[in-house]
Amino acid sequence: NDTIAIAIDGPAAAGKSTVSKIVANKLSFIYIDTGAMYRALTLKALRRQVSLEDEEMTSQLLSETSIELEQDHDHQHVFVDGEDVTDAIRSENVTNNVSSIAKQASVRQEMVERQQELAQKRGVVMDGRDIGTHVIPDAEVKIFLRASVEERAKRRYQENIQKGFSVDFERLKQDIEQRDTIDSKRDASPLIKAEDAISLDTTDLSINDVAAAILQEAGKVL
Ligand code: C5P
Repeated sequence: NDTIAIAIDGPAAAGKSTVSKIVANKLSFIYIDTGAMYRALTLKALRRQVSLEDEEMTSQLLSETSIELEQDHDHQHVFVDGEDVTDAIRSENVTNNVSSIAKQASVRQEMVERQQELAQKRGVVMDGRDIGTHVIPDAEVKIFLRASVEERAKRRYQENIQKGFSVDFERLKQDIEQRDTIDSKRDASPLIKAEDAISLDTTDLSINDVAAAILQEAGKVL
């Protein structure tokens, strides 16, 4: 039975993508990382030196941009106009600018339409900020992941160290907080828990615990 959609929302670095990938794999569902789509547009805008605050320009740019998400096993690849930008969209520059583009109503409208088309097939796990509230409001399973900002910064810090990047912990924490603030305070579909979403505080949970909890919820409706 692949008829359900699982919506996973939450603040930056709450472990959404790691957990979503595990859940999708277990259920043989497709995983759709909507943050990657906003990052992809941000990368293109930065490269073209388009003003990120100019909503008319950014939405025009999006209308002429192809963004593709491809999956092989647990690897997810992101393509912009055919170019593999999987690593490029994780840069600090993209991370610290993406929320400026993502707050624009016309950009969101187009992104949400594209995401709804991707989710139509069901058998999907989709993660983001507005999946349970706007993209798939009728998702059968809705999860809102939380974790203290301290814990989220720690996880991101470890990830960076493992990749061989040196990062300043305090700065990382500030960047995460700033992104959460912009994402939560924007007018257009802000980061917020859907009323019918299950809230999971992952601060003291392992990745596998979180995945197991979500799989248990999915098991109730599958
Ligand atoms: O999930 P990730 O951290 O990669 O998302 C990057 C940014 O994209 C978020 O900080 C947010 O500004 C934006 N985003 C969004 N709505 C989504 C997914 C991501 O506004 N559904």
